[in-house]
Amino acid sequence: MLASQYKGCAAAGTRYASFCKLLNNPSALELDEVKWLLLRSLQVTALLPLISVPLLAQFPHSPVDPDRRDRGAAIYAGKCASCHGDDARGTANGPDLIRSLPVLHDRREMLYGKELGPLLTTLPGHSYKFNDKQLGDLSQFLTASINGILRSGGNSQPTGLLNGDAQAGEAYFNGAGGCTKCHSVTGDLAGIGKKYSASALQQKFLFPNSGLFLKKKVQVTVKLRSGKTYTGDVVHIDDFTVMLREKSGETLSFNRVPGITVTTDNPYTAHEELLRKYTNADMHNMTTYLDSLK
Ligand code: HEC
Ligand code: HEC
Repeated sequence: MLASQYKGCAAAGTRYASFCKLLNNPSALELDEVKWLLLRSLQVTALLPLISVPLLAQFPHSPVDPDRRDRGAAIYAGKCASCHGDDARGTANGPDLIRSLPVLHDRREMLYGKELGPLLTTLPGHSYKFNDKQLGDLSQFLTASINGILRSGGNSQPTGLLNGDAQAGEAYFNGAGGCTKCHSVTGDLAGIGKKYSASALQQKFLFPNSGLFLKKKVQVTVKLRSGKTYTGDVVHIDDFTVMLREKSGETLSFNRVPGITVTTDNPYTAHEELLRKYTNADMHNMTTYLDSLK
């Protein structure tokens, strides 16, 4: 009984697999998983007593209505598949949704898109205004996709991640990719292949700006008519308002009225541009090269 639950559990997305490893093989935990578990345990102390059978038992059962799933599949195919892949396992243009925390949370809590809805209007590049019915359908499609992976029992590691050419990856790193402008394989990226699994590593260099622990955040400076300036991490920014968090931790909000100037400093611009440049081969070569840095 327990063994089969653990098996289902290990087949889940990385995040939940972390729980399984914690229970069964803590020494195999990766750094980002440890951080994630730590954060979870701090954030939701109430969850700790639950890291056991009741939590794991939820994995295999998130019911799906086939009609809703099929309607969701149609929405997904039309609007999301081009970037997140036909099977929601990600492409060079969008991350894996099967391992995405908000998607897993939606499934586990059976939220029918209640939290995904707002996210799909605010994530960079996403401005999808779905109604509740469409969101529910989309949620049922994603839930069904995750269920399918759990049931198949295959670990959700995409295959063929490390079949690139490490030397070509190295040449790209030092040349066309321009990576050495900001990174060094003997400095900040030393041993990066040890730090992450191949799929986590690929996510990291494709989308360094997504995930829970960002070393750098997009900065914004607001200059008022009086000349007074405020700088901090962007909390929210649109055509009408800017919200920022100062170093002190204080959150400030400004209306973008005439006379106010707003400038942003985005440390991830280079990575966003690279996303448009990589060919499939560049991507595989880079993953293979970075993975070899052990
Ligand atoms: C043009 C490409 C593109 C399309 C189309 C697209 N996405 Fe995305 N999506 C992305 C990228 C890139 C990110 C990462 C954004 C970031 O973290 O800054 C992302 C992030 C996400 C995330 C958050 C993942 C996480 O764990 O952080 C979700 C959920 C998501 N997309 C769902 C959808 C859905 C559902 C659709 C269709 C309605 C869709 N996306 C359409 C490119 C796309
Ligand atoms: C203009 C600067 C810049 C360039 C050019 C750049 N990066 Fe980055 N990269 C960043 C920043 C900023 C981060 C996020 C903060 C950090 O991890 O240092 C990041 C993060 C990463 C990470 C995640 C590191 C970790 O420990 O989580 C990897 C891997 C990475 N970049 C690889 C690359 C590769 C490969 C290239 C070239 C194809 C590249 N970067 C080009 C600025 C850059």
